[in-house]
Amino acid sequence: MSYVIGVDLGTSAVKLLLVNKTGEVVQEVSKDYPLIQEKTGYSEQKPEDWVEQTVAGLKELVQQFDGNISDIEGLSFSGQMHGLVLLDQNNQVLRNAILWNDTRTTAQCEEIYQKVGKEKFIDITKNMALEGFTLPKMLWVKEHEPEIFAKAKTFVLPKDYVRYRLTEQVHMDYSDAAGTSLLDIAKKEWSKEICDLLDLDVSICPPLVDSDQNVGKITSAVAGETGLSADTDVFAGGADNACGAIGSGILSEGKTFASIGTSGVVLSYEPTGDKDYKGKVHYFNHGEQDAYYAMGVTLAAGHSLNWFKQTFAAEKSFEELLDGVGDVPAGANGLLFTPYLVGERTPHADSQIRGSFIGMDSSHTLKDFARSVLEGITFSLNESIAIFRENGKQIDTIYSIGGGAKNPDWLQMQADIFDANIVKLKSEQGPGMGAAMLAAYGSGWYTSLKECADTILEDAETYQPNPENVEQYKVLFKLYKDVYQQTKQLNQDLMDFRK
Ligand code: XUL
Repeated sequence: MSYVIGVDLGTSAVKLLLVNKTGEVVQEVSKDYPLIQEKTGYSEQKPEDWVEQTVAGLKELVQQFDGNISDIEGLSFSGQMHGLVLLDQNNQVLRNAILWNDTRTTAQCEEIYQKVGKEKFIDITKNMALEGFTLPKMLWVKEHEPEIFAKAKTFVLPKDYVRYRLTEQVHMDYSDAAGTSLLDIAKKEWSKEICDLLDLDVSICPPLVDSDQNVGKITSAVAGETGLSADTDVFAGGADNACGAIGSGILSEGKTFASIGTSGVVLSYEPTGDKDYKGKVHYFNHGEQDAYYAMGVTLAAGHSLNWFKQTFAAEKSFEELLDGVGDVPAGANGLLFTPYLVGERTPHADSQIRGSFIGMDSSHTLKDFARSVLEGITFSLNESIAIFRENGKQIDTIYSIGGGAKNPDWLQMQADIFDANIVKLKSEQGPGMGAAMLAAYGSGWYTSLKECADTILEDAETYQPNPENVEQYKVLFKLYKDVYQQTKQLNQDLMDFRK
C-alpha cells in the first residue's frame, strides 16, 4: 500500500496526516508552537519553531508507522496565509515572521492606495489592501526596520519556508502568492507595476509554481532526522483555504463551503480569474491549476461563541449551552447579535467596529442569547453569500465544515439563513487532507484532483431549508445588515473614549 503525508502548518500547531491510497487517514500527529504578541495588534512566530516541530512531527509519524518506509511516496503542505518571512542572500531568516492576524499596518494599507491607486490595486490583485496581507507588512519593515529590510533578498510565506528547509528549494505557489497583494491574480505573475510604484524591487518575489508541482526530494539530512526515505517527493502545496477547498471537494463551479472555526469562511469555486467582485470578497488562485475561488471572512465566528460561553456560561459545556436552542423560534425572540468582537473583514473591512446585542428585554433567557449568537455568526457569513449571489453565482448547496458542522440545530439554521441545502461530509479532515490530496495527485494516483475528491469524499447528511424560517430570516437579515450602519459611529466614538 502507498501513502502520502499532508502537512498543515496552522497558526497554533502543525498537523500531519498520513493518508493511504484509499484516502483513509491512518495516522495523525499534532505539534504546537507559541505565538509572540509583544504589543497590542502584533502577532509573530519564529520560523525555526515551525521547522523544528514539523521535523519532530514527521519523525513521530515515521516511528509509529509499521509499514515499509519507501511506501510513503510524497508529502505536501497547507499553510496559514499571508505571513511575512524575510530571507537574506544566504536564505537566513532576518526577523520573526509577521502573521496574518497582525494588525499593525493600517498606515501602510493607506500608503498602498495613495501610491498605487485603489482602483488599479484592486484591479490587479482582486483584493483590498488589508492589514493582514503580506505587502503592507513588507512596507512596515521597510519603514520601521530599514537596516533589516536592506538585507532582504527574498520573501516567502510560512509553509514555503518549511518546504525550503526540507528541500533547499525556494518557491511560492500561486494560491498562497495570491494573498500577498503582489500577484497579478488573472495573469498569474508578480506585479512589477505595484512593486515599482511602491519602490520595491520585484526580484524580492520568489519563483512561482503550481500547488501540485513536484519541487524535489527531501534532503538527506531531513531523511536522516525523520527516518523518511531520501526518495520522498515534495509537492509545493497551497494556502490553507485553497487546501480546505480541495479537502472538501470544492472543485467545480457552484461548489461552496461554509467553514466555522475560530474565524468563519465562505468559499466558492471560480473557474476563471476574470470575475470582478471589486474587492468586496477575496478572489484568490485555487490549488487546482488555473482555477480560482471567491471567499468571505467573518473574523469572530467560533470565537464569538467561545467568548459568549466563557463570559456568561463558563461552567457549562458547549453541548449544555446549546442544548435546546432548536426550541427557541427563528429570530431568538427578537434578539439580534452582531459578531464584530475583533472588528470585521467581509463585507466591512473595519478594524474599529464592535459587536452588539440589540433588542434585549427581561424575558430573554440564556437560550435566547445562545441562539442569537449562532444566528449572528450565520448572518455574517450570509453577507458573503449574498455578495456571491449578487454577482451571478447560483448557490443552492453548501458544504458545512469545521465546528459549525457539529451541532444539528446550527446546521438547520445555516440551511434556513443561507436558503440552501446544507451538506455535512462523512469524514472531514480540513486543509491537511487537501495537502495530502495534492501529494496523491502529484504522485500520479489520480488523473485530477476532482477524481481524487470524488473517490475519497462522501456526503453524510443534508439539511433542507424550512420555507417558514427562510421568510422570517429574510426579514431579520435586513435588520442585521442595518446594525452595522447604525452602530459604526457609536463604536468609533466609544473607541476614542477608550483611548
Ligand atoms: C485568509 C486568512 C486566514 C489565514 C489563517 O485570508 O487570513 O484564513 O489563512 O490561517
